[in-house]
Amino acid sequence: MWTKESLKEVIEKQLGDYLLIVVSNREPYIHMHKKGKIICQRAAGGVITALDPVMKACSGLWVAHGSGDADKKTVDSNSRVKVPPDDAKYTLRRVWLTKEEEDGYYYGFSNEALWPLSHISYTRPKFEEADWKMYELVNRKFADAILEEVGDRKAFVWIQDYHMSLLPKFLKDAAGNRIITAHFWHIPWPNPEVFRICPKKNEILEGLLANDLLGFHLRHHCENFISTVEKEIEARVDRERFSIIKGGHETMIRPFPIGVDDKYVEELAESKEVKEYMQSLKEEFLLHYDFIMLGLDRIDYTKGILERLRAVDRFVEKYPEYRGKFVFIQMGRLSRMHIPAYKNLNDEINALVEEINWKHSHEGWTPIIFVRRYINYPEVMAFYKLANICIVSPLHDGMNLVAKEYVSARSDNTGVLVLSKFTGSARELHDAVMINPYDIDDFADKLKIAIEMDKKEADFRMQKMREQVAQNNIYKWAGKVLSALLKFEFKE
Ligand code: G6P
Repeated sequence: MWTKESLKEVIEKQLGDYLLIVVSNREPYIHMHKKGKIICQRAAGGVITALDPVMKACSGLWVAHGSGDADKKTVDSNSRVKVPPDDAKYTLRRVWLTKEEEDGYYYGFSNEALWPLSHISYTRPKFEEADWKMYELVNRKFADAILEEVGDRKAFVWIQDYHMSLLPKFLKDAAGNRIITAHFWHIPWPNPEVFRICPKKNEILEGLLANDLLGFHLRHHCENFISTVEKEIEARVDRERFSIIKGGHETMIRPFPIGVDDKYVEELAESKEVKEYMQSLKEEFLLHYDFIMLGLDRIDYTKGILERLRAVDRFVEKYPEYRGKFVFIQMGRLSRMHIPAYKNLNDEINALVEEINWKHSHEGWTPIIFVRRYINYPEVMAFYKLANICIVSPLHDGMNLVAKEYVSARSDNTGVLVLSKFTGSARELHDAVMINPYDIDDFADKLKIAIEMDKKEADFRMQKMREQVAQNNIYKWAGKVLSALLKFEFKE
């Protein structure tokens, strides 16, 4: 079983004099002004959840966009800050973006073009030349910051996600094999018919094929990527080695299903701090029901939040005997709100919650509690502990770590996970109650199955899922990526 220590060992033994640099758009720690003080929050989202424990275990440098309004006040003259602030374990180098750059690169090309293009959730991608120009410029800005950090040394650069598809090429053009790159694409890769509409498809594929290693969560996404390359550009596919050779350079394509730090989650979930949060959340939201169902997401149209609300509505309609006996609490973190699709979704959610609650309200009881405030990680754990049912219902998701975190937090083996078939997690967590979020009637029936599941069966299923999550933990994911990369023997 992979642990923090075994990962550390691999890194210390094998990396030698190579620097280890992680790059992502979102920074792991954000400094902000609040009530006249500067506070630091750990950012949310799958990439941070996955990589923060890895970086804590192996030090190194993390390069990311400095997006907090107090970020500039907390760095040294090289834009660096040690994190986590209360227990410094690694260095964060912040890259500064202008508003215009952030608009075009982050809101525009990354999240209005590549995000909907990669997820099949029927939101049309929007391609704007001006956004693309900013995307290109910001990828160069990241490359410059990394090249400055590396100097004339050798480095292993581990690139995260769809915000950075041009970065590998910029790095290789400047430093050749002195920099080895592994790129992990945290979201799905669509099939060639979907990808072919992207006006910048060649540039993106060429950028990604500058990598030495390119990883996806699932083999299916690797295959989609390979088929896309075959259809779109001139490159040789080596099926046996599962690699692509373009202009004499080989990129290994590999599946690495991501996980969580299950031990850390479990320990935190059992802590005194979390017990205190459980108590205060119970009081704040009057959680005195037999059944507490939980949803916890960024407000994003891929997450199936509207479908989940409709399923709860249908559940109460079909099974009125549960009126007043349960509550569905949805934590929704606002996200990417400058994008119309996200703003509209948020408005739609508000209206739907209002409508459903009005329809079923009965003697002070309403079925849905929707909470939008920031909640810290221990509070997330408290919610996991309070919920006997966790509903994860994306329309399409690369992996989904909420599902794996919930399972990790349930150390007494209780609790039922209701999980969309269209998540990467569903390929591993076979003992969840599987749903198709588009099939609202069946979804409602599955909620009933979850509520009524025999305790022995629920415990057994949870135990099996916990074993699975422990096996495929985050250190295994990082260790596998690194081990695959070490096969390059860091040639000069
Ligand atoms: C997904 C992406 C991440 C991203 C996260 C949160 O998990 O794969 O790269 O950081 O969503 O989204 P945000 O836009 O807030 O960073």
